[in-house]
Amino acid sequence: MQKHLLTTKSLSKEEIDLILQTAENFEPYARKEKRGDQLKGKVLGALFYEPSTRTRLSFETAMIRLGGDVVSVADIGTTSMGVKGETVADTAKVISNFVDIVAIRHPEVGSAEEFANNASVPVINAGDGTNQHPSQALLDLFTIKKELGKIDGLTVGFSGDLKFGRTANSLAYLLANYDVKLKFIAPKALPMKQKVKDDLNEKGVNFEETEDFNAGLSGLDVLYVSRVQKDRFTDMNEYEKLKDVYVLDRKLVEEKSPDMLILHALPRVNEIAKDVDDLKGAAYFRQVQNGVTMRMALLSMLCNL
Ligand code: CP
Repeated sequence: MQKHLLTTKSLSKEEIDLILQTAENFEPYARKEKRGDQLKGKVLGALFYEPSTRTRLSFETAMIRLGGDVVSVADIGTTSMGVKGETVADTAKVISNFVDIVAIRHPEVGSAEEFANNASVPVINAGDGTNQHPSQALLDLFTIKKELGKIDGLTVGFSGDLKFGRTANSLAYLLANYDVKLKFIAPKALPMKQKVKDDLNEKGVNFEETEDFNAGLSGLDVLYVSRVQKDRFTDMNEYEKLKDVYVLDRKLVEEKSPDMLILHALPRVNEIAKDVDDLKGAAYFRQVQNGVTMRMALLSMLCNL
């Protein structure tokens, strides 16, 4: 296992499978059936310089339920980085004195790597701008395996904002290690990043692209829905035009792929209608529970190297 978790791109299949296996052992702790002390004496720095509900709170929950402690930044406006101009590098050198492991979210691409390069403790990238969100992708993959019992042989669709979203490409890099077919369903203005497609091509991954949402849904085993990322748009008129471009509703699911597993990193805005929520395949709230499980595994693996 690597010292830091910064990107899904650098994980080998062996590492991914080990992480998935380790996560299974933490399910009773995440389900609150057991309280652990695996991380007793360790302190997590949960440094969130961008808004978060699930990621920060599930990292903190995972740490506390395994006997560890947490110090947090939940508002960049209360920090020396946000108010006084302290650099990411200096912040890393300082915070390494206080904690045993860091989970960092920051709006700039590459910020987690910059932090890790200057830290003396393990660092988990909890989202760096539009780039990567590896712990989310690992919990997404864990959810697919848990819900469907396999990864090989699946056709996985990704819909919505694939340009600004960081979770779809992070998951695509993980899936590239398996025998899967990928389908990127996005409006012309929000396509999957070219670099990601180049990397997938280089790895020989079978993928296709379409702008046609309805047609794209046919034949899927899994649909990974992404919201249109309002927070990344500079032109709000453009956002208004695109925000409801694809809406998945119950009728569409039943017509196109009634048995498909439906995932979403959340938060949801309008891209999945509420009438989808009680379909058997709608797994996005079960997916959240797996966030605690996966983060328990990652914190334990990286703290105990
Ligand atoms: N899935 C996810 O990253 O959610 P938050 O932005 O609430 O952490």
